[in-house]
Amino acid sequence: MAGLPGHREGSAIMALIQARGLSKTFGNKAAVRGLSFDVVPGSVTGFLGPNGAGKSTTMRLMLGLDNGEGVTTYDGVPYRELRQPLRQVGSVLDAKPFHPTRKAVNHLRMLAVSNHIPSSRVTDVINLVGLGDVANAKPKTFSLGMGQRLGLATALLGDPGTLILDEPANGLDPQGVHWLRNMLKTLAGQGRSIFVSSHLLSEMALMADSLVVVGRGSLIASGKMSDFISTSNRNAVVIRVDQPDLMIRELRARQAAVVTEPDGKLAVTGLDSDRVGALAHELGVRVFELSNRQATLEEAFLDATGASEEFRASMGFGNQAPAFGGPMMGQLGYGAPSGLPSRRVATDRRQGTALSLVNRAATGSPGAMANRRRAATGPRGGYGAPPPAPPPPAPDTVSNEDGSRRGGDGA
Ligand SMILES: Nc1ncnc2c1ncn2[C@@H]1O[C@H](COP(=O)(O)OP(=O)(O)OP(=O)(O)O)[C@@H](O)[C@H]1O
Ligand SMILES: [Mg+2]
Repeated sequence: MAGLPGHREGSAIMALIQARGLSKTFGNKAAVRGLSFDVVPGSVTGFLGPNGAGKSTTMRLMLGLDNGEGVTTYDGVPYRELRQPLRQVGSVLDAKPFHPTRKAVNHLRMLAVSNHIPSSRVTDVINLVGLGDVANAKPKTFSLGMGQRLGLATALLGDPGTLILDEPANGLDPQGVHWLRNMLKTLAGQGRSIFVSSHLLSEMALMADSLVVVGRGSLIASGKMSDFISTSNRNAVVIRVDQPDLMIRELRARQAAVVTEPDGKLAVTGLDSDRVGALAHELGVRVFELSNRQATLEEAFLDATGASEEFRASMGFGNQAPAFGGPMMGQLGYGAPSGLPSRRVATDRRQGTALSLVNRAATGSPGAMANRRRAATGPRGGYGAPPPAPPPPAPDTVSNEDGSRRGGDGA
């Protein structure tokens, strides 16, 4: 097996993760609200959400490390009933979960012995994560990235079918991020289930096939990444013509939504590029440019989670900055106007498709959703009542609703 020495040759890796009804409250704060999703074998599933959305809490619940509601099973078995958990589920939830003075190699040996894993595997994984030269060093001397690597070595020690990793790229250097991506893709290609959170969306776009997206503890979307991106209202047909006013009028007469961009181009949704081009031809309009623009994962994420963001940072220029790049979106004519909540994705009638967008009220295709959203006079009209926007924080501050970051564990 490429890249992972010690792999159980010929073993069938089956590792379906099913999370059902996960909930957790700290005091009167609901951190996770009835989350249900699957992580299927053979894929890297990205776990996305703004700060404080409940990702780490969800992962702790999945591993039975927090008291809460709901059940997570691994091939049908809850974590606490797994006979050899380290051989079935590897996890990294913390960048440095080690005894500070126990040598890295001894940390791994201790775990290997107690889990009936051959000691040769310790050498294998420590070399695999690139810590061979510091195997006899004490973790208290490790940098953040070295700690992450030792955590990964620990997770991989039992050659598990499932990996649950909370921001594993945090602290890794560019080579480390590249290595991590390739390794996780390789492991997924072997039929394992990889569930990984990260705020590095460009990295996630390269690595993950599927996504689970949360905001304020609730599920926003789960399913294929490509389906998630296709729901973004940044997907559009872009056209530049010599008679934009005529083109806009005729496009709108055909139920297309049109936004004029700062550079004069028209961004059109609701009609595909063939039809937009054909219309220009019919009208005798000269076309200088015609292209399909696909949203990035980051754009789709910002679009989907704008109203779910818990912590908003001021730009420090006196005006309250809208969530996540709102000014740019506003300038381009997309998304909610500055300061208005963008959609809380709350819709899906696309039953049977791979993507599940959690939905309250809207109907129709993602394209139709985007069109209605743009046409609406109010904030993201037609998608159910979005949660109230949090009060603006004082300039130069980062705050949450109650002004505090963390209290005690209300478990
Ligand atoms: N031990 C705790 N006691 C009280 N509240 C907590 C505790 N742990 C988490 N919370 C709260 O639960 C919510 C979810 O936190 P969590 O750490 O799961 O978010 P996250 O999505 O992992 O965020 P980040 O992207 O910043 O890592 C937050 O509002 C947080 O303040
Ligand atoms: Mg976290």
